[in-house]
Order: sequence, then structure tokens, then C-alpha cells
Amino acid sequence: MLRIDWVSDVPPANSGQLLVVAFTKDDIDVISGRFGEDVRAALTRAGVTGKAWESFRFTSLEGGFHHVELIAVAELGSAENLRKLAFEAGRSARSLGANELVLDMRDALQLEGEDASTAARLVAEGLELSGYRYDRYRAKDEEPSAKASFEGVSVVAPGKPGAGIERGRIVAAAISRARDLGNGPAELVTPTFLAETASELAAELRGAGHDVSCEVFDLEECERRSMGLYLAVARGSDEPPKFIHLTYKPKGESKGRICLVGKGVTFDSGGYSLKPTDGMLAMKLDMGGAAAVIGAMEGIARLELPYEVHVISAAAENMVSGRAYRLGDVFRASNGKTVEINNTDAEGRLTLADALHFAVGLEPDLIVDFATLTGACIVALGPHIAGVMTRDDELASSWQAAGGRAGEDHWRLPLPKPLMSMLDSKIADMRNTGERAGGSLTAGLFLEQFVGDKRWMHVDIAGPAIVSKPFGVNVEGSSGFPVATILEFLASEPV
Ligand code: BES
Ligand code: MN
Ligand code: ZN
Repeated sequence: MLRIDWVSDVPPANSGQLLVVAFTKDDIDVISGRFGEDVRAALTRAGVTGKAWESFRFTSLEGGFHHVELIAVAELGSAENLRKLAFEAGRSARSLGANELVLDMRDALQLEGEDASTAARLVAEGLELSGYRYDRYRAKDEEPSAKASFEGVSVVAPGKPGAGIERGRIVAAAISRARDLGNGPAELVTPTFLAETASELAAELRGAGHDVSCEVFDLEECERRSMGLYLAVARGSDEPPKFIHLTYKPKGESKGRICLVGKGVTFDSGGYSLKPTDGMLAMKLDMGGAAAVIGAMEGIARLELPYEVHVISAAAENMVSGRAYRLGDVFRASNGKTVEINNTDAEGRLTLADALHFAVGLEPDLIVDFATLTGACIVALGPHIAGVMTRDDELASSWQAAGGRAGEDHWRLPLPKPLMSMLDSKIADMRNTGERAGGSLTAGLFLEQFVGDKRWMHVDIAGPAIVSKPFGVNVEGSSGFPVATILEFLASEPV
């Protein structure tokens, strides 16, 4: 485990250490006072002006630290920036083969009281995530030195970290677990694998003294429960569907019952509305919602959050075969509504429909679903921001605020009732797909038909869950978004 110390002064230099100093445009002149005129001149020659995320590394021949890196930050106030700074510093230390990192944030970060523990959480998260990579299929002896040699970090910053460091570690572990699920190829991460992982996680957490149980419904049980939409999606695949249900009960009194529903399409070929290669390439990640809620469950238990939490995923693979569902077919959902299929690539909402109806049956105070649901959401909000849809203003703003504190961006989208007419069917209660315009919104409206009168929020994570260009603390592949927000939201006791 990475050692993380929170200290008020820069410790004496040793060989094998990297000193990273965060600075802002304003204190670029302080640099010369600290490292001398030569370094200041080298910065100027290199064109470093203190623009956000510019960095400059040098090797000192005199005493003191051998390796020094200066990283410019715009403002450290934001959670996103703090996590990223720690992440970048950690990556530098690892790539340099340094065994110790000293991260000096004194100039760039002013803290008071509670702030230090929040900062410590974010810094610990960034440092831990800087070591993340999916290595299941890597040769075991590859680059052993870089990983093994990095032992500890001294974070030079004001204040007391309190429980922040430990919290950050737990959040990072939960994110990493979600990432590993996402990054696994669909050949490995099947609905069965997801279900086994969930049940192993429950056993592991029970072993650590937490009340977590796992229940998995197979095809027959789902048929008994009339989950017609979910099973329509699953039937084209040779991989059997698995309906996953994890339950966590807090040690003390529960502050409310919350259902977290995740889209668990382990591969989305599009079905007969087949995707082209480019569109299909990342579709092993179409279970990012399930990965996030399963990963979050680890954090929820380890942080001992005071809610009864149900994690639910109707896991399936969307394939093409002689058994696959067709365009024009009509299926009945577990809540009795019939749906005409006009696009087999709008499969996520079908699996979610039966999962949401199951959640309603648990009589929760709140249902939140997470899904890599629509390409349209990426068109609207870009690759870094998730779309949030709910009729509950208070819920939307407390969720967005939690995202801000966690370093994960969310933006609210509307649920315009008139667009429901886009889902009108001539022969069934509705169709599964609207027009191209407003594609994320009609998807949200479709889901709303299955939540009854429950307090509900839908989070479309199609952009930030799937990383094609690295951003923030994320490398290419699965980001584990929005595990950090889920944990922050539940820790702030919103219900
Ligand atoms: N899994 C996709 C959405 C998606 C696309 C996620 C790209 C991440 C990146 C979803 O099942 C899908 O195919 N949605 C369709 C909906 C359409 C048929 C109404 C889409 O976005 O094109
Ligand atoms: Mn699809
Ligand atoms: Zn999909």
C-alpha cells in the first residue's frame, strides 16, 4: 500500500525522491527565490508562464532534491484540480522510478478547518489512481520496478487530514474495481462473470464484518417475474442473462432505502440494428453503469454509509442470432406495459425498464439509475460530463453539488413531456425509440414509464464512463465514473 503522510514542512531530501511543487501564475516569481535564478531563466527559455497544467522538470546537481517538477495549477480550490494534481504528480514519480514523492502544495493551496480533510481525500484518490492500469492480460514480470519501487508520498500542505486520506483510498479502490470490470473484454466480463463478481464482493465485504448480501436471478426466475423487455434483449446471446441484486444494510439505524440501478449490457452489438465497427469498438464498456454501482457498493460498505442500499443490474449481452429479437416485435414489461421495438440498438432502456420496476417493488425512498444510454448525450455534453434527468429539483442540485465535490461533472437535462409522443406506437403502449432529435430525453422519458411515483433520477454516463482521450484522473478505457459522486452523495446524507 502506498504510504501517504500529510506534513507541514518539506522533509529533508534523499536520493530517489521526486519533489513536485504546485504553483500558480501568481507565484511564478517565488520560484526564483526558492530554486535560484537559473531555474527561473530556464522556465522562461522553455516558455513556461504558469498556464494551467504546464509542467517543468529539472535535475539539480547541487544538494537537495535530485528531481524537481514544477506543475502549474489554475486554482486548487476545485476537487477536479486537486485530484488531477495528485494524479499527475504520482504518474511523474512512477515514470521516473522514484521511490518517494514529496508533493508541495503550500503555495497553491490555502486551507482551513474541514478543507484539509476534503483535500486529503482528493489527493489520496489522485495518488492511488495514478497507479491504476488494467493488467490482467499483461505479462507478470513487465515493468516490476516502477510499480514496486514507489513507496510513499509526503504531502506538504496546511491543516490536519483527519479521515480524509483513508476515505480517499476507499474511494479509489471502489473506482478501480469498477474500472477493472469495465476494462475486461466482453469475452471475459459476461453477465455470469458480473454476477459472480458481485457475489464474491458480497462475501468479501461480509468477511470484513459488513452486512452485504447478493441474490442473482437466472433466466427462469426472470421469466417467472415477467421481465419481458430485459429477456427480449438477452435472448439473442448464448450468454445467459443474470439479474443481479446486492443489498447492504448499515450497522446503525438506516436513514433511508436507496436503489442504485446500473445498465449492464456486457456487449452491445446493436442487435439487428447493427452498429458499424467504429460504433461497436468500445461496446464492451456498455456495462459501465453496472460496474459503477457494483464498485460503489464496496465503498458504501467500507465507508459504513448510513443507508440501506440496493444495487441492481439486469445484465445481458445484445447480440445477433436466430434467436435475437427483431424490429417490429412487441414485448410486455414486468409492469404490464407493451413495447414495440423499432430499434434493437436502444436495448439499454429495455433492460433498465424491468430493473427499475423491480426496484420500485422494494419500496425505496429513492431510485437512481446509471447508464451508458445514448450517443446523443455525448453529442450534447461532450465526453466529460454526464447528463442528469429527474423531476426533483432538489435532488438534481444536491447530486450536481456532490459531483462538484467529487471532481465529476454533471449537467441537468430536461424531461419534456410533449416528447413522449415520439414514442407513440400504433400497436403497443409505446415504441422503444424516438426521433434523432432529443435522443437522450426520449430515453429518459421511456425510463420514467417504469418508476411509478417513486423519487427517481436518471444519469446518462455514455460520455465520461468511456474514455477515449485521457482526462482528469482517467486513462483510456473505463473511468469508473460516477463512483466518487455516488459515495460523496451518500456521505452527505441527501435523503
Ligand atoms: N450503448 C449505446 C449508447 C452509447 C453510444 C454509449 C456510444 C456510449 C457510446 C446505446 O445502447 C445505443 O446504442 N443507443 C442508441 C440509441 C438510439 C438507437 C435511439 C444511440 O445512441 O445511437
Ligand atoms: Mn445500443
Ligand atoms: Zn447500449
